[in-house]
Amino acid sequence: MRTVSVVGIGSGNPEHLTVQAINELKAADVVFMLDKGEERESLTGLRTQICERYVSGACRIVTASDARRDRDPTHRTGQYAAAVEDWRARRAEIYARLLTDELAEDGRGVFLAWGDPALYDSTLHVLGEVRARGTVGFDLHVIPGISSVQALAARHQISLTRTGRPLHITTGRRLAAEGFPAHSDDVVVMLDARAAFRVADANDEIYWGAYVGTPDEILISGRVADVADRIAAEREAARQRHGWIMDTYLLRRPGDTADGAR
Ligand SMILES: C[S@@+](CC[C@H](N)C(=O)[O-])C[C@H]1O[C@@H](n2cnc3c(N)ncnc32)[C@H](O)[C@@H]1O
Repeated sequence: MRTVSVVGIGSGNPEHLTVQAINELKAADVVFMLDKGEERESLTGLRTQICERYVSGACRIVTASDARRDRDPTHRTGQYAAAVEDWRARRAEIYARLLTDELAEDGRGVFLAWGDPALYDSTLHVLGEVRARGTVGFDLHVIPGISSVQALAARHQISLTRTGRPLHITTGRRLAAEGFPAHSDDVVVMLDARAAFRVADANDEIYWGAYVGTPDEILISGRVADVADRIAAEREAARQRHGWIMDTYLLRRPGDTADGAR
């Protein structure tokens, strides 16, 4: 039986791989790299560096082009759902082909997941679809990684939660569309293409980080009123410089300290 591991590799700092992740990479026969397209070349480079640092000499690295997603913003709801469905099916085909063609029947294959595989990462979903098709069987291992959210909190030296209070994790798209969530005063925002933090109140605090854990890391924190323009300018300049940006932030309604009870 093939063994497939989804290994969380942290979000840019090679020292954020766990011992379990390193052991999984060392034991791998094949590591699969999914190339997400030209704008992410330097991200693929970071992945390769992390991988080369830990895999054994006998391990093969197989790179395949990931399925491109049709992101036409003019799609109506039905068309959008159909486009996502089609994209998922094409990805499942690619993954199934990699497993059948590149991994021996008793081999150990690894898919790398940026950060942690449980947060806004489709690898587990796609492998579930491959398994449901029944064309190639495998045992699945999931190795957690340090997510960009944890890395961000550590770099700002903050706790994400306040005593007994919820933490909300959402996307920039949702924050922009729905505003600050009604039931939480602490909101982590990922996948923000549009500086959605501007929906926050002037007195809310923001803890923002781009390329966290990498040599290009940028950190800014303060009252939204004081730092929103600086963050918007920094992220635009960084996007121009690198061709891509990955940033995450915590928005915090002021009130209690992290240790205060409400
Ligand atoms: C597709 S999601 C993957 C999240 C990943 N699974 C994790 O655990 O961090 C990509 C988003 O993660 C965040 N992200 C990933 N790496 C980051 C980094 N080094 N610095 C800041 N944000 C990062 C950004 O919000 C980015 O838009």
